Amino acid sequence: MNSLTIRRPDDWHLHLRDGAMMRGVLPETTRHFGRAIVMPNLVPPVVTGREAAEYRDRILSAKPKGSKFRPLMTLYLTEETEVRDLRAAAEIGLITAVKLYPAGATTNSASGVRDMGRVRRVLDNMAQIGLPLLVHGEVTDPEVDIFDREAAFIERVLDPIRRETPGLRVVMEHVTTRDAVDYVREGGPDLGATITAHHLVINRNHILAGGIRPHYYCLPVAKREGHRRALVEAATSGEASFFLGTDSAPHTDAAKLQPFGCAGCFTAPNAISTVAEVFDRAGALDRLEAFASLNGPAFYGLEPNADTITLAKGDAVPYPAQVETGDGPVTVFDPGMDLHWRVT
Ligand code: NCD
Ligand code: ZN
Repeated sequence: MNSLTIRRPDDWHLHLRDGAMMRGVLPETTRHFGRAIVMPNLVPPVVTGREAAEYRDRILSAKPKGSKFRPLMTLYLTEETEVRDLRAAAEIGLITAVKLYPAGATTNSASGVRDMGRVRRVLDNMAQIGLPLLVHGEVTDPEVDIFDREAAFIERVLDPIRRETPGLRVVMEHVTTRDAVDYVREGGPDLGATITAHHLVINRNHILAGGIRPHYYCLPVAKREGHRRALVEAATSGEASFFLGTDSAPHTDAAKLQPFGCAGCFTAPNAISTVAEVFDRAGALDRLEAFASLNGPAFYGLEPNADTITLAKGDAVPYPAQVETGDGPVTVFDPGMDLHWRVT
């Protein structure tokens, strides 16, 4: 097979940032993706309906001319989130989901939730109206090893939330472990998971063996090879619970290449080619459309995009090493292998 036409993909987990950075990275997403779930972890975070509307308008006004890209907005859950505001934003279709960051788990998560008891009423309301909760699934307990934080989150936080809130729809974002894959498989139709392009490709050796490579550092951190294989198997299975969320998370090189470097891989420019390469090598190109373009909308109760993209197989696909933004250059994820599938 040298050519493949699929419904236009969506990105079910994306960081667009704001201002000059947003204007620099947005075209990298709108080129290939029809819609994206836009993460609310700005500084300060997008907490209210009004803030989500304003952020959406800034994205729409930065969109390249002629692009039909649709940002799907989210609210950042805090212990002060007001049920009335959240319900109003959901009713008018302003927001598509709500994001839970355990306080301190990742980049810009200081305003996140410390005590789940304090968001009980919000979660009950979300279950009533079918508004999905997107979770950054890592515990923040400093006693827990960073490579075990996702597995511990399932047991200590996610499973209790789901038991206490029947009917709550949940997406476990950017899963990195076999534990998460197994848990999601048993979770029924109200539980889904996004998988990134980079976690399909790298394991923890890529970050640490033979020299430290900050551009591969993201959260949740990549795990052992066996976990990566479990992710590839889940993504390429075609199962409805698994869909593409790139977690493309741009930081300037100045912010990444520091003694205290930021977490995040910037994959928007080559995410589709990377995922296609992984599926090709797994002999699963026939299931790429399910993962990238069909399972996500089905989970969210939306139609797939009406238009299509065509991928052509050939010589190594060119992409820039860096994307220039008004805030400085941002290094593009290096999958460490030639990518042969180009979006035509
Ligand atoms: C994200 C970011 O930079 O905002 N970083 C990351 O490593 N993925 C936050 C997140 O999704 O955890
Ligand atoms: Zn993210």
